[in-house]
Amino acid sequence: MLLKIPQILDTAGVARARELLAAAPWADGRSTAGRQAAQVKNNEQLQSGSPQHRDLQALVLQALEKHPLFFSATLPKRVLPPLFNRYAGEANAYGSHVDQAVRYLPGAGSGPQRVRTDISCTLFLSDPADYDGGELVIEHSFGEQRVKLAAGDLIVYPGNSVHRVEPVTRGERLASFFWIESMVRAEEQRRLLYEMDMSLMKLRGDLGETPELVRLTGAYHNLLRMWADT
Ligand code: NI
Repeated sequence: MLLKIPQILDTAGVARARELLAAAPWADGRSTAGRQAAQVKNNEQLQSGSPQHRDLQALVLQALEKHPLFFSATLPKRVLPPLFNRYAGEANAYGSHVDQAVRYLPGAGSGPQRVRTDISCTLFLSDPADYDGGELVIEHSFGEQRVKLAAGDLIVYPGNSVHRVEPVTRGERLASFFWIESMVRAEEQRRLLYEMDMSLMKLRGDLGETPELVRLTGAYHNLLRMWADT
């Protein structure tokens, strides 16, 4: 499911993120890519560990938690700490690749935790008018989707898709990217639950609470109970 979630960050949130990004140290983006991806990756990535990086991660994670659409669309079990990248100048593109299936979450005590990357996310942080190119191109069964969103908007897409970032030919493209392991592993089940949840919300707004809505809401939760791995 390819889904745009508007306004994860509002104008003030985007401005704060941009301020932190401008003050933080950057590094070659290849440091976190797998072997195949490193051959086609040419961008910069925020160095981990700086105070700005930690503030940025907290800013994004808090914004995600507050957004009702985000929960419904992804049913997150674990969200990997957001990373940040920049495409500009010579380091301006990322060729076709598939993200690694499993990533490691630095763990306290019991060692690193394995996280399955069911869902890939990109949060756009630059105004599209400020750069040319830089579309996120996602291949799926219906063809290619070219995605370039307003600053503060998020795209979520299946972690198993081949995707790329087109060369940025003017200006700079800043974004946050991260992965989610969902409680519901199968994409078709997540999509069904999302559509059901959205329809239930709309019906509740239109009709108020009716006995049928109570039963349908129960059916939603019972499907989730059947499919969720928590
Ligand atoms: Ni990728």
